[in-house]
Amino acid sequence: MIMNKETLIQEAREARNDSYSPYSEFNVGAVIQCADGSRYTGANIENINYTNTTHAEENAINKAVLDGKREFTAIAISLSGDPIPPCGMCRQSLSEFCDDDFVVIVDEWGETTLGELFPSGMENID
Ligand code: THU
Ligand code: ZN
Repeated sequence: MIMNKETLIQEAREARNDSYSPYSEFNVGAVIQCADGSRYTGANIENINYTNTTHAEENAINKAVLDGKREFTAIAISLSGDPIPPCGMCRQSLSEFCDDDFVVIVDEWGETTLGELFPSGMENID
C-alpha cells in the first residue's frame, strides 16, 4: 500500500525537468520511495553514442543506493511521450533490491507490481 500516490506522480513529472535528452527529445522522470519514506528522483541522461544513455529508473535507484538505501516500496515514472512501463533492463536493476510487491506507478498508464512486470527474475543471492 503506497501513501501519497499523487505526490509521487507529481514528483516524477517534475523530475522530467532534469532530463538530458537532446537526441530523442523524450523526457523521462522517476521518483523511488525508500522503506524509510525518503525519496530519490532520476531522469534519463542521453549520450551521443546512444548506448551510454541511462534511464530515469536506474538513475533514481542508483542515486538512492549510493546514499546507502537498500529497501524500497514504490517507484513512479512520468514520460513526455506515450506512457510505457519500465524497460527490461530497468526491471532487472529494480529486482536487485525490490521485492515482487514493489509498486510501479506509470503516469497516465496505471499501477502494477515488479512481480507482475518481471516474474521469475534472477534472484538476489543475499
Ligand atoms: N527511457 C527511460 O529513461 N526509461 C524507460 O523506461 C524507457 C526509456 C529513456 C531512454 C531514452 O533517453 C529515451 O527514454 C528514449 O528511449
Ligand atoms: Zn529502462
